[in-house]
Amino acid sequence: MKSTTRSLRALKGVRPIVCLTAYDVSTARIADAGGADLILVGDSLGNTVLGLPDTVGVTLDMMIHHSAAVARAKTEALVVGDLPFGLAHDSFPKLLSYCRRFLQEGGVKAVKIEGGASLAPAIARLVDAGIPVMGHVGLLPQRVHSAGYRRRGLTPEDQKQILIDAQAVAAAGAFAIVVECVDEKFMPKITEAVSIPTIGIGSGRGCDGQILVIHDLLGLTPEPPPFARPEANLHRDAVAAVRRWATKVRAKKSK
Ligand code: KIV
Repeated sequence: MKSTTRSLRALKGVRPIVCLTAYDVSTARIADAGGADLILVGDSLGNTVLGLPDTVGVTLDMMIHHSAAVARAKTEALVVGDLPFGLAHDSFPKLLSYCRRFLQEGGVKAVKIEGGASLAPAIARLVDAGIPVMGHVGLLPQRVHSAGYRRRGLTPEDQKQILIDAQAVAAAGAFAIVVECVDEKFMPKITEAVSIPTIGIGSGRGCDGQILVIHDLLGLTPEPPPFARPEANLHRDAVAAVRRWATKVRAKKSK
């Protein structure tokens, strides 16, 4: 059955929501056939596919190019596009035009925005304009140069701030919220405090769903983060397949 923002929202408290990233038609087909409810065209595209050191160098044009490829897979899973670094802080007319391009040219059905309470007014205006928004709080990879990649929610002050951020994003009308690398003992408090699904990554089991970078799940990342336990080793298997074929070619056993 086709997932929608409404159907995903309705899953809170019913069953865990399965989310994965994808960056092209083949990863989208794999995620969809495997039963993902939501596919995020993440700006992790930068690290996984484009060979960039982080997500900061990923542009809207890059995201739209890859989102359109994912959309061509015509998945049952809801396709969400990640708004690149800095764009959510632009003027509202510009932000609306970026999101419009994402939906019209990239074929995504919703936009994910990294950031908390300070972005809630912009999120509310986007939702009002008919752009479904997924929030993202906790560790914000787009802030690597200002805050680093550090686990969040380890002190009472930080926990308070994350709760303020999650509640503001939910009150602004987001249909779900990614919570990245937050202390797992604190995570259930966030899930209880918001009426929308919390989708965890590296935040333990106390979420309404989980998301992983598909390259980490499939064993295509040289050094996956510690919380991502690969279910396959496609890099190893692919290298072995290439080696077998190369051996046949050199032995003149392949046509
Ligand atoms: O860019 C991405 O893939 C993400 C997920 C890790 C949540 O934001």
